[in-house]
Amino acid sequence: MSRKIGIVGSGLIGRSWAMLFANVGYQVVIYDIEPKQIESALVDIEQQLKKLEENGLLRGTLNAEQQFACIRGTNSLEEAVKDAVLVQECVPENLELKRKVWKSVDDVAGPATIFSSSTSTFLPSLFSDHLKNKQNIVVSHPVNPPYYVPLVEIVPAPWTDLAVAKKTRAIMEEIGQTPVSLSKEVPGFVVNRLQYALLNETWNLVSDGVLDVQDIDKVMSDGLGMRYAFLGPLETTHLNAEGFIDYCKKYSNTIYSVSKDFKPLEKWEGPQVDEIAKQLEKLVPLEKLQERRSWRDLALTKLSQLKKSLQKK
Ligand code: NAI
Repeated sequence: MSRKIGIVGSGLIGRSWAMLFANVGYQVVIYDIEPKQIESALVDIEQQLKKLEENGLLRGTLNAEQQFACIRGTNSLEEAVKDAVLVQECVPENLELKRKVWKSVDDVAGPATIFSSSTSTFLPSLFSDHLKNKQNIVVSHPVNPPYYVPLVEIVPAPWTDLAVAKKTRAIMEEIGQTPVSLSKEVPGFVVNRLQYALLNETWNLVSDGVLDVQDIDKVMSDGLGMRYAFLGPLETTHLNAEGFIDYCKKYSNTIYSVSKDFKPLEKWEGPQVDEIAKQLEKLVPLEKLQERRSWRDLALTKLSQLKKSLQKK
């Protein structure tokens, strides 16, 4: 069976996918519309792999040099995708572009190749209805930075072959990610539906003046988020009572009456945007965003190491 993976688009996410597939020895071929991007992707990937190895963070059993040897670039889309077991598309989030790129892939890839998109927002049906191999389309939505945050949402279009979604899940498990398989496409998939539920409530609480920006973020980072890094919300309820049935008996009225107090949906527009931005920029000035991102990635690295060490016990 082919061990070839085609990566289409070699920006931030394409590079991460290339490293993830190479960590178990897939032969990765990177294509980009901009030849310079391919060159810089290869330099960047080699540096990232070396740094991961130096810091003892490299995934897989191959060393950095062996993993890098699994990755090459090409200026030919056909060379990248033909007879690949899976093509991971990582071009910018633009629907017309995704439709065009998938059509070009469809014209040259074989019928056995999985068509996997990294899109964060588009339903797979929106960019695959015109493909001859549309039964092979699936979204594999990663969370940034994918090397440390392993979740991948696998989302089928209505016409996706179930076997394709299953095989994609198996490949994601093989490379060490944590796939979840949606049974059908829904706007926002699941990560963003949960994220937006939380964001809408933070918006309303700030709007009501209940908490300021700094304190509302602490509710997650030093409160709920601490346990959600290890247990999901449902298992949390199960442990917070004598099992889920007991939890529902004890708390269903409370959940219902508090939830009825939620405000109607608002658009994120108007003076509150400036107010929240002002408070956030006081905490993290715009010129310090990159520094803070590096700190976040370091924190996520340490968290993922801790989670792995806990699993081993
Ligand atoms: P990016 O802008 O860093 O990279 C996109 C790459 O695609 C560039 O190298 C560009 O030259 C290339 N490209 C443009 N048109 C092309 C074409 N016709 N054929 C081949 N390559 C082409 O974008 P990024 O951040 O890597 O995002 C890629 C996808 O991943 C998007 O769909 C995005 O929504 C999704 N995603 C991004 C996340 C993030 O945090 N950045 C997280 C999860 C998903």
